[in-house]
Amino acid sequence: MPETITEKQAAKSELVRYCTEYKSTYAHSPLAFVHSFGCQQNVSDGEKIKGELIKIGYELTDDYSSAQLIIFNTCAVRENAEDKVYGTIGDLKHFKEQNPDTVIAVCGCMAQQKHVVEKIRSTYRQVDLVFGTFAYNEFYQMLWEVVSKRKRVFNISENSLDINEDFKQFREDKLRAYVPIMYGCNNFCTYCIVPYVRGRERSRKPDAVINEVRQLVENGYKEITLLGQNVNSYSYGFPELLRSINNIPGKFRIRFMSSHPKDASKELIDTIMDCDKVCKCLHLPVQSGCDRVLKAMNRHYDIAQYMSVIEYARSRSSDFSFSTDIIVGFPGETYEEFCETKDIIKTVKYDNIYSFVFSKRSGTKAAELEDNISDKQKGLWLRELLLEQREISSQWLSRFVGRTVEVLVESEGRTGEGYLTGKNDEGIIVEFAGNKKYIGEFVQVRIIKAMNWALSGELVEE
Ligand code: SAM
Ligand code: SF4
Ligand code: F3S
Repeated sequence: MPETITEKQAAKSELVRYCTEYKSTYAHSPLAFVHSFGCQQNVSDGEKIKGELIKIGYELTDDYSSAQLIIFNTCAVRENAEDKVYGTIGDLKHFKEQNPDTVIAVCGCMAQQKHVVEKIRSTYRQVDLVFGTFAYNEFYQMLWEVVSKRKRVFNISENSLDINEDFKQFREDKLRAYVPIMYGCNNFCTYCIVPYVRGRERSRKPDAVINEVRQLVENGYKEITLLGQNVNSYSYGFPELLRSINNIPGKFRIRFMSSHPKDASKELIDTIMDCDKVCKCLHLPVQSGCDRVLKAMNRHYDIAQYMSVIEYARSRSSDFSFSTDIIVGFPGETYEEFCETKDIIKTVKYDNIYSFVFSKRSGTKAAELEDNISDKQKGLWLRELLLEQREISSQWLSRFVGRTVEVLVESEGRTGEGYLTGKNDEGIIVEFAGNKKYIGEFVQVRIIKAMNWALSGELVEE
């Protein structure tokens, strides 16, 4: 389905007409339920889909059973992510029989894989529309074809890799905003499906990013997270971009993720230290503590290079905060090699780790490698790693006890009635007693206690 402006505009006006007629018949706009699985980048794509739907006259709902359009924006990074989606759409079989007019769509990373599309086509007949991550620019044409002709549409074309700056995200959160600065990945880590389902790296122009952040700050946003699979590989210069965003007037925080260690330079650390709005923390996925495994993963760095970034950052600020991603049980990994990963988490002292058992992704190089360790054994290694990390983070978080930290208050707390929760500059959860009026504000909190997942403290009234 090649995209032309006229086809797109024609489909858009038909959809606007459809929504208007629907509203005059049923006294409410057609409702759309959009759910995104997976990473922040995918959540941000979901927000763009929501924005496009609002433009043509849909209203959003959190209740799929009342929706005329249901969209699942999917993730393919691990097998359990895909299983969750199959389970969810499988559960809708009966619903679709009862509500044949409701359009069910599956999009995102899973939908960019041929074998998934074939499986949905043959097994999940309740799904009307499937489109991959390269087809967003054809969204109106595809939707109109399904709505008007009542036929199933499948689109995993690779036509529309250009960045479309017309999409405006609909953001439910009015405090924190995700801003993608680049899309895709060129790295082909041997375990990872992302380069296949997201295409090659392409960066947004600095002006587009800076203007978007300026507008968000003017609209009251207090935390901006710049997104990319490898945010620091941004082709127009990431440190320069950070400096320009830091110069935007207003009180707000800048975060970013994920950073690839191969592009994590001293210049990046210096920029973080120089820019008062940039949080002094870095999500730097190490994946493994063993050089042989890193090579087999095609990561393009070794532990000595990785540690030189950590050490430089800590030489600039002794409690510079790090978090990481780790894969346990890469094919061929031995227990001794896994222990090197346990060593690295002890050496770095991460505030947080996101660890996963290796999941075989069809089409990737690692899927072809021999794998002698059972999933059960890998699960035990993962547990071992998490226990180690729990110990490390509760000790490491205690560095905040006795200090007063700035917290952006996000919502009521988990501790109980009268408690609030937010995050400090390092991204660590802080709970404290306080009035709801502080939600959305920066406040000062004196830290009294460190738990393994969060800090607790008391409000310092000004
Ligand atoms: N681009 C980022 C980087 O290279 O550090 C990571 C993005 S990836 C979407 C998020 C994390 O998922 C990875 O860091 C990795 O730990 C994990 N991951 C990716 N593929 C995986 C696989 N096949 N099995 C288990 N975990 C995987
Ligand atoms: Fe996947 Fe590696 Fe690209 Fe990250 S850098 S998205 S892990 S291929
Ligand atoms: Fe998943 Fe796609 Fe993100 S595979 S992790 S949703 S880029």
